[in-house]
Amino acid sequence: MAANNKAKLSIAGLAFAGLVSISAAFLEATPVYAKGPAKQPAVLSASAIAVADKYSADAAEQIFKEGGNAVDAAVAIAFTLAVTYPEAGNIGGGGFMTLYVNGKPYFIDYRERAPLAATRTMYLDEQGNVIKGKSLFGYYAVGVPGTVAGMWEAQRRFGRLQWKQVLAPAIHYARDGFVVDEQLEQRRDNAAKDFEGKTNFDTYFGAMKAGETFKQPDLAAVLTRIANHGAKEFYDGKTADLIAASMQGHGLITKRDLHDYRAVWRQPVEANWNGYRVITAPPPSSGGVGLVQLLKMKADLKQDFNGVKLNSPQYIHLMAEIEKRVFADRAQYLGDPDFYKVPVAQLTDDAYLAKRAAEVNPDAPSDTKSVQPGLGTSMPEKAETTHFSVIDKWGNAVSNTYTINGYFGSGVVAQGTGIVLNDEMDDFASKPGVPNMFGVVGSDANAIEPKKRPLSSMTPTILTKDGKVSLVIGTPGGSRIFTTIFQVVNNVYDFNMPLKDAVAAMRFHHQLLPPNAIFWEPYAPIDGDLAKQIEAKGYVLQGQNFNGDVQAIKIDGDTPNPVSDPRGRGVTRVIQ
Ligand code: DON
Repeated sequence: MAANNKAKLSIAGLAFAGLVSISAAFLEATPVYAKGPAKQPAVLSASAIAVADKYSADAAEQIFKEGGNAVDAAVAIAFTLAVTYPEAGNIGGGGFMTLYVNGKPYFIDYRERAPLAATRTMYLDEQGNVIKGKSLFGYYAVGVPGTVAGMWEAQRRFGRLQWKQVLAPAIHYARDGFVVDEQLEQRRDNAAKDFEGKTNFDTYFGAMKAGETFKQPDLAAVLTRIANHGAKEFYDGKTADLIAASMQGHGLITKRDLHDYRAVWRQPVEANWNGYRVITAPPPSSGGVGLVQLLKMKADLKQDFNGVKLNSPQYIHLMAEIEKRVFADRAQYLGDPDFYKVPVAQLTDDAYLAKRAAEVNPDAPSDTKSVQPGLGTSMPEKAETTHFSVIDKWGNAVSNTYTINGYFGSGVVAQGTGIVLNDEMDDFASKPGVPNMFGVVGSDANAIEPKKRPLSSMTPTILTKDGKVSLVIGTPGGSRIFTTIFQVVNNVYDFNMPLKDAVAAMRFHHQLLPPNAIFWEPYAPIDGDLAKQIEAKGYVLQGQNFNGDVQAIKIDGDTPNPVSDPRGRGVTRVIQ
C-alpha cells in the first residue's frame, strides 16, 4: 500500500511540476489522497462476494488473496465483467458505487453524460414525434462512458493494491479467453437481431459460441494501456482517439467529450428505517429516493399490512398503491442534480411520506390520473445492467451497479477497442410524457442537455446497524430495480426470511403506467387463482421476462452470507 501511494504522490508531483503530461483537468478531478485506509483489525470471519459470473468471482478471490480490500476486489470485478459478461459488464457504460469504508458512507457517480452536441430534440422527427429505436440502437444512442473514471476514483481513494494488480485478471480473460456460457450466447443472439445493419456488433461478437473459448485481443490491448497509464488513457489517450474515430460521421461523441468527462463523489441518500441506516444512491439515480419512499410508506401503513400474507392479492395491491405514488414523484422531480435542483430532502421527509401513505386506498386501486406528484410545487418540468456486492473481513463494503442499458448497449463496438458502447441516452425523457424502454416517463428535469446525466433507477444499497454493515444489495432491472430491492428487504426484515428465500421469492412490479398494470415474471409461474384474484381487484396482469438479478450479502454476527439470484448465472464466494 505504501509503495502504491508513494507512486501516486510522485506522479502527481511530477505532473504539477509540468514534467509528465497528465491533464491538469484530470488531476483536478482526481484529488490525490494522502493514504488509503489504515489496516484495520478483521471484524468478520471472512470476506464475501455475490457477483454476476464465475470469472469475476475468481478475480475477486485472487485480489483478496493478494491482500486487497473490498474496493480493490470491486474494481477487479468490474473490469473482469467488462470482458466475461459483455452483455452488461462494461467499460463503455457507467454506473454508481455505494461504499462503506472505515465506518463511513461514500458514493461515486460515474454515470454517462450526454455529449456536447446533444440536443433536447435529437430523437424527435420533424413532427416532434419520437423516432423509434434512435435512442436505443447504434451510434446516436451512446452517452459518454464513465466506468473507467469511476473505478479509477474509487481504487485511487480507497484501494490498497496497485492499480495494475486489479486490472490483471481482466487482461488475462481478454487476452487468453474465457469459456462462453449458454446464457451469454442466447443474449447475443437476441441482441444481434436489433443491431443488424445498424452497427458493427457482429464483427466482434458474431463468433462467440457457447462452450468455446472466446478471446478479445483489442480489448486486452485497451485494458493493458489503462493498466499502464491509468484512467487518463481512456479519456485522453489512444483509446480516446479510437472511440472518437469510431464515432466520426456516425455519432456525437468527440475527444472533447471524453476529455471533459468527470466522475463525481456525491453524498449518498441516507435514511433511518426499522432500526437500520439505509445508505443508497442519490440523483441522478431515482432509485435511492424511490427505495426510501417505498420503505417509509410501507412502515406508515403498518396497520393496513398487519396480518397480510406475503404476495397475497391484498399485499400486491397495497404495494402497488405505494409504488404508484413513488413513480408519480419520479416522473416529475428526478433528474441530474448538476442541472436541476432535485428536492431529495422533501421527497424523503417523514411527514411528507406519512401524508402520501395516508392517500393509499386499502380497498381498490386509486385512479391513476388522480395520483399526481406529491410536493404540490410547480417544478420545471430492453435490458441489461449488472450488480455486485462485496464485503471484506475488515467490515468495508461495496455495492456497485453499472450498465450499458440494453443487452450489449447500443450494439456499437468502438473500432479497434472491443469496447461495447452503451445506449444510456434512452434513459433521458426524449419527449415529456413519452415512455422510454422501461415504460417510464419523465419531465423537463430529465430532458436532454449537453453534459447532463440521464436519470437512472440503479440503487446500489448498504444497510448498517450500529455502524456495522448488515446488508449489501443491488440488482439490474431498469425501473424494476428499486421495487425489487424493496421487496427483498421486506422479505428479509418484515417476514424474517433467510436471504436465499427472500431473493428467490416471486416478484411483481407496478410503476403508475400503464394504468393498474402489475408485471409478473415467468420465473415464478402465476398461480391461476392468485392471478384471478388480482384481476378481480381491478389490475391488469402483464408477463415480463426479467425482474432482476439480485446480488446480496447479509452479515449475521461476524459471518457474511452471500446470495446470488437464482434467475441469473451469478456466483457467491466466502473467502478466508
Ligand atoms: O440506469 C438505469 O436505470 C437503466 N439504464 C438500467 C438498465 C437496467 O437495469 C437493465 N437491466 N435489466
